[in-house]
Amino acid sequence: VRDSKLQLVVSHIRAFPDFPKKGIVFRDICPLLKDAAALSAVIDLFEDHVRINYQQVDLIVGLDARGFLFGPLLAQRLGVGFVLVRKKGKLPGATVAVTYDLEYGTAEAEIQEDAVAPGQKVLLIDDLLATGGTLYAACQLMRKQQAEVLGCLVVIELKELQGVDKLKPQRVFSLVQY
Ligand code: PRP
Ligand code: ADE
Repeated sequence: VRDSKLQLVVSHIRAFPDFPKKGIVFRDICPLLKDAAALSAVIDLFEDHVRINYQQVDLIVGLDARGFLFGPLLAQRLGVGFVLVRKKGKLPGATVAVTYDLEYGTAEAEIQEDAVAPGQKVLLIDDLLATGGTLYAACQLMRKQQAEVLGCLVVIELKELQGVDKLKPQRVFSLVQY
């Protein structure tokens, strides 16, 4: 069952060479979102992983923007809340921010100061792990807020960019690797 779900996921990811810049192979998850069974398979696989590996999860924390597509679905399955880490300037009220590097640029990530409470156990989620800069920044934000990061979940891991090493000692779970 697990293998057939993974097959379904893999078959709904497209590659676009030289987007958004020459030399980048962009992994497009739009077909995955468009297909109800494939999207369910993603959430099923994440849910199984979380239930097997973690006793208690307090919140799912999703990364702007594509982490928002999967995070709330998983959070609902687990019966927990969802929190947004956004690109800077999008969140109202008191916020905490960090700067980070991307595979193709730099950016700033921000969270509402009251989004997570000290000691809360959180899982971070995004569509894709490249250099790990984005998830690393989110981990820093969680540390600033004294939340406990249990691990990171991604649909796709780009192995050659070694994001897993950048995120150590955090654990990373990916469904598909390139
Ligand atoms: C992409 C992707 C991840 C991040 C991964 O988002 O969705 O969030 O890059 O790269 P990294 O591991 O090198 O940090 P992007 O910043 O392109 O923004 P978007 O989700 O708004 O398209
Ligand atoms: N984010 C960073 N690198 C990416 C890639 N190669 N494909 C899709 N999203 C990305």
